[in-house]
Order: sequence, then C-alpha cells, then structure tokens
Amino acid sequence: MNDGPRVGGGAADSGRDVTRVLRRTRDGYDEVADLYADLFAGQLPAQPLTRAMLGAFADLATTAAASRAGAGDHDGRDRDAVASRAADPRDAGRRARVVDAGCGPGHITAHLSGLGVDTLGVDLTPAMIERARRDHPTLPFALADMLALPVADRGLDGLVAWYSIIHLPPVWVPRVLAEFHRVLADGAPLLIAVQATDGDIPAPQPHDHRVAPSHRWPADALATLLRDAGFVESARLLHPAGPGERTPGAILLASRPTERKIVGVPIRNPSMCGPGLPVTGTP
Ligand SMILES: C[S@@+](CC[C@H](N)C(=O)[O-])C[C@H]1O[C@@H](n2cnc3c(N)ncnc32)[C@H](O)[C@@H]1O
Repeated sequence: MNDGPRVGGGAADSGRDVTRVLRRTRDGYDEVADLYADLFAGQLPAQPLTRAMLGAFADLATTAAASRAGAGDHDGRDRDAVASRAADPRDAGRRARVVDAGCGPGHITAHLSGLGVDTLGVDLTPAMIERARRDHPTLPFALADMLALPVADRGLDGLVAWYSIIHLPPVWVPRVLAEFHRVLADGAPLLIAVQATDGDIPAPQPHDHRVAPSHRWPADALATLLRDAGFVESARLLHPAGPGERTPGAILLASRPTERKIVGVPIRNPSMCGPGLPVTGTP
C-alpha cells in the first residue's frame, strides 16, 4: 500500500482556536439541519456499496463484542458517561455498542441499529440532534464533540465517522484518531467516510463546502494517519462522484488491533508476526 504523504502533527492549537472552529461548524449546521436532513438522509437505499461497507462494519463490531464478552475487566478509567453504555465485558451475548460520531440527522445511526448493533449518535450541533431525535424517536442521541467523546476507554465495539472529520482542520485529525483509538476495544472496527481528492493530489485540500470549512482527503494520506494512530486498515471503498455529488468519496475500514503477548511483551498486530511464532495470551 502506498503510504502517501504525512499530514498532521502541526503546532498545538489553543483552546480558543478549537472553540472557534467548532462553533463555526455548529452554527453552520444549526442553520441548515432540516434542509440537510431532507436532502441527504434518504440516500442509503440507492447506495448498495456504501451499505455493504456499513454491513461489514456491523458484522465486525458484533464479532468484537462477542469476543470480549466474559473476557474479564478491561482497564477502563471511566470518564463521564453517556458511557453507562461503556462496555461491561461480563454481559456475554450482548449486542455490539457503537458510536456514530457526527451523526447529523441520524440516518446512519438508524441504519446500523437496523443491522442489530446498539448505536448512539453524537453530534456537535443541537439542531441536528433535535432532528435526529424527531426522525428516530426510539434511538439514543447526545450532544458531544468527537474530540472528547463521553465514553470510557475501550468502551466501544465500533465507531463510525461519516463525513464528519472533514470539518476538522487536517492538523487535528491525528488528535481525533487518538480519541477514537482510546474509546475502541481491542479488535473493534472504525469506519470513516470522507470526500476524496481528485486523482493524485497527495495532501488534504480545502473543499468549498457550503455549510462549514472542510477538507477533501486523499485516501492514502488518511490511511497513513490511521496507521500512525495504531489502527490496521482492512478495506477501503473509493467511489466516483455519484448523482448529486461534486466529489469522489473514500470509505476506510480499519480496526484497533487485538493485543496479544509473547512472554509478557505486548504485540500490536499478531498477524504481522509471521507463521509459526508462538503467540499466547488472550485476544
Ligand atoms: C456533513 S455532516 C454529516 C452528517 C452525517 N454523518 C451524514 O453522513 O449525513 C457533518 C456533521 O458532523 C458534525 N460535526 C462536525 N464536527 C464535529 C465534532 N467535532 N464533533 C461532533 N460532531 C461534529 C456536524 O455538526 C454535522 O452534523
């Protein structure tokens, strides 16, 4: 796989920068939440490849939940909890718990719930959360910033970020990926959708998004940041602009690898150790 260019790692931003960027995004979506929902929330039925990626994600989250049920206590230093939903590894047979980060009007949250995973939609924008609750009154939604998710360490069996990290300045993307890594359990999948750059453009490009500042991403650059954050990519879907779209898209599926130990030494990704190596420990 082409590693692509390195992005991110820029100078630390002040709290004021963060507040300014998030406020701009929130205010932009607050104004257009209903229009956005009416335009985009009904598209999945016409997108079989996208549904396939969401289906694979739901399967993997269910497998991750099953494999850690009954595995003993995780080391979760619980933070505030929307995370009463944080995983309790003792409840064997439970459904996977996932978060849809930047859920907007909640249509991806609803689709995943229909696939049998317990999905919490979180979003920065109050009008989006209101609309999501109105359209999906039986599903849970919460106001939250994906840079500081109200979820315990390793509390989730999966996380989806569907066209939402696009609104973070690229230098902050390593930070949000570190947050996703914190909340995901070993083996849990991460699914990220973004507007992609055209052709061979190697770095994220500003996108003339109509609601809030945003970037288009080269899939390779995003894959590099995922790897740097400790994820292992397993698949990607690159698609041309569809009807009504202005850009191609990229959907990346990765997971937090299962940690195993050789005589007390943790290994990140046992599948890369080669055949015949005596791997022991619990998945
Ligand atoms: C392009 S919309 C995508 C909405 C939905 N995921 C979809 O695919 O229709 C981007 C969403 O991300 C949310 N968002 C942007 N930055 C966020 C942040 N830091 N934390 C939580 N949500 C955020 C916005 O409020 C908006 O609802």
